[in-house]
Amino acid sequence: MLIVLSLGGSILAKDLDPDRFLKYAEVLRHISKKHTIIVVTGGGESARHYIGAARAMGADEVTCDYIGIEITRLNARLLAVALGPDAFPEIPTNYLEAAKAIRPGKVVVMGGVTPGQTTDAVAAILAEYLRADLLTIATSIDGVYSSDPNCDPTAVKYDKISPEKLINIVMAIEMKAGSKSPVDPVAAKIIERCKLDALVMDARDPALLRKILDGDATKKSPVSCGTWITVKK
Ligand code: UTP
Repeated sequence: MLIVLSLGGSILAKDLDPDRFLKYAEVLRHISKKHTIIVVTGGGESARHYIGAARAMGADEVTCDYIGIEITRLNARLLAVALGPDAFPEIPTNYLEAAKAIRPGKVVVMGGVTPGQTTDAVAAILAEYLRADLLTIATSIDGVYSSDPNCDPTAVKYDKISPEKLINIVMAIEMKAGSKSPVDPVAAKIIERCKLDALVMDARDPALLRKILDGDATKKSPVSCGTWITVKK
């Protein structure tokens, strides 16, 4: 099975704790023995700090995005360090390089690609390009809610939704100032256009990520945590 994993910077690189990188690396090493896995790392707090500093000096948004991309790639490089010989030694900078990097038993790790999106979109585009069996968006929220649960106490979590419904939810959340959607709108659009099976899950605990990728997610059976995005009834 080919799995593309979007590993949020906020969970992987929260405080650049080497132990956390090593724990996620151990999960990926284990999963790569059974499946081909490509990981797209996010920028997390560091990206926000760098982008904030650039913005405060008057940088345009494209420049800010390029700075964000650099940080996502640094996180990718750190994860590759944690994986040691089990990582493909280079950090692909585009989708073609990522496709060429796939080798049995090696985990390919990459960051952002182009301004105007986030690494969730990179993971979704890569999953479409490689015809992946599964896209997993590993984040700090346990799934897709009807609205942002941090702003709306009445928000309800979905166990399973269609890609069309995901787009409606994401667009409604994005329109509300201060709300944050669990999936980037570009990623949601890609999931919809290629009818990709995707799982949004809380992966702050690497052990839970291992359990889900090792079992339920790859069998595509309902998972105890997270939201399935699928066209299947
Ligand atoms: P992230 O994917 O980390 O965004 O990219 P995020 O929404 O902050 O996600 P978390 O919190 O880590 O889970 C960080 C920034 O890098 C730029 C964007 O500015 C984004 O906000 N970026 C990333 C791009 O412009 N293009 C990319 O392909 C990836």
